[in-house]
Amino acid sequence: MASKKNLVFFCKECGYESAKWQGQCPACHEWNTFTEEAVEKNTRSSKKSSAGITGGTNEAVTISEIATDTDERMGSGFAEFDRVLGGGIVRGSLVLVGGDPGIGKSTLLLQVCKNLSDGNVNVLYVSGEESLRQIKLRADRVGDFASSMKLLCETDLDLITDSVNKEKPAVLVIDSIQTMYAKESDSACGSISQVREATARLMQIAKTGNVTVFVIGHVTREGTVAGPRTLEHMVDTVLYFEGDRYASYRILRSVKNRFGSTNEIGVFEMGNDGLKEVANPSEYMLNGKPKNASGSVVACSVEGTRPILVEIQALVAQTAFGIPRRTAAGCDVNRVNLLMAVLEKRVGVPLYDCDAYINVAGGMKVNEPAMDLAIAIAVISSKKDKVIRDDVICFGEVGLSGEVRAVSQPKARVAEAKKLGFKTVIMPLVCLDAVSDTEGIELVGVANVRQAEDYINRMS
Ligand code: TYD
Ligand code: MG
Repeated sequence: MASKKNLVFFCKECGYESAKWQGQCPACHEWNTFTEEAVEKNTRSSKKSSAGITGGTNEAVTISEIATDTDERMGSGFAEFDRVLGGGIVRGSLVLVGGDPGIGKSTLLLQVCKNLSDGNVNVLYVSGEESLRQIKLRADRVGDFASSMKLLCETDLDLITDSVNKEKPAVLVIDSIQTMYAKESDSACGSISQVREATARLMQIAKTGNVTVFVIGHVTREGTVAGPRTLEHMVDTVLYFEGDRYASYRILRSVKNRFGSTNEIGVFEMGNDGLKEVANPSEYMLNGKPKNASGSVVACSVEGTRPILVEIQALVAQTAFGIPRRTAAGCDVNRVNLLMAVLEKRVGVPLYDCDAYINVAGGMKVNEPAMDLAIAIAVISSKKDKVIRDDVICFGEVGLSGEVRAVSQPKARVAEAKKLGFKTVIMPLVCLDAVSDTEGIELVGVANVRQAEDYINRMS
């Protein structure tokens, strides 16, 4: 078959392909991101891959004609992992798991493999990063493995495909996509065309053999999976494993899911013998909340379908000289500046000469607008040195005229607060009607931030 080699330029950020070098990428508008790579235009391979993904026939069918198996999903042994995937592992899907180095991606998937093989599911774990001995050392910390789990240290996708055909696994794990090598592309491992080609090959394995493929990918400093962002378009599901490497908890977050809702999160804790699920993250996040301290208030955020309570802390101090300093950890600093301007102008709290430091305790990152009211209340509390009672929780979006606006799922938020023993909820007035079960909990509806401030002032 005729094949032709030519030089192509790729954008490192988004994978945009161009015949000539350009200073700015026309697709993502990033500067200086083009790199040169040699690609082989092979007509045969492109034909083969398109036939593979459709699954064989090229006849059009009606939806009712398509047969689905009853057990399209299987449990991973981790309820948190299953929920993030939308209710279990979907057969024949391609899942990308991204995360910083050392965060625990290999450990997580090794444990999922262990659980699956304990249930007699055939699993093949392919590592291009570690030797068999290194994997064994890690596996020893996690527990005993059943014989239906097979290991392979290989980077050549041809040999991996052979091994898949021989072992016939139901689940294949590739650790990591940046080390894999497909002969269709001449570029170095980890380069954009190589990663793209390797993913296309894995997609073919997943769709034709009905094998679930988990692909581990490294994350760049900017926080996206290294290589092209087109990788995210190719796979069915993208999960990110994140968390503070120095804290023990880790969060698995789905950012794209063809088979479930996105933004769903699962919480794990890293211990000496691997990862453990955290069944009640709210309790975990509120652990160590100071008693009788001003500037601290509990807020309720909804991540995916699950409400999580987090403590918002604020420290407002007089600026010693010059321009006030504002920092935020775990939330957007621009949002904090905006809320402080709203407090100054609409509520009349003088903050122009104050430094402010906002922190979401526990290291969670929350960027939901429903956190606004909690941030505003924490700032007022610290500025006035007024302690917010321990059994108070709040949520609500704050608009530019100081109004408190409706947020999604008020019912679930109130229910979570109730479950953890909170007595008072400060929430948007317009959301009050949506909450019917109010037994044992006081709901304080506020229409604007001034009313929330009044309530705090009256608080004993
Ligand atoms: P790893 O899974 O190798 O990370 P990744 O594949 O994302 O690069 O995780 C390695 C880290 O986890 C390492 O710092 C050691 C730590 N760890 C534990 O704390 N406990 C354990 O039981 C295991 C297996 C690892
Ligand atoms: Mg690893």
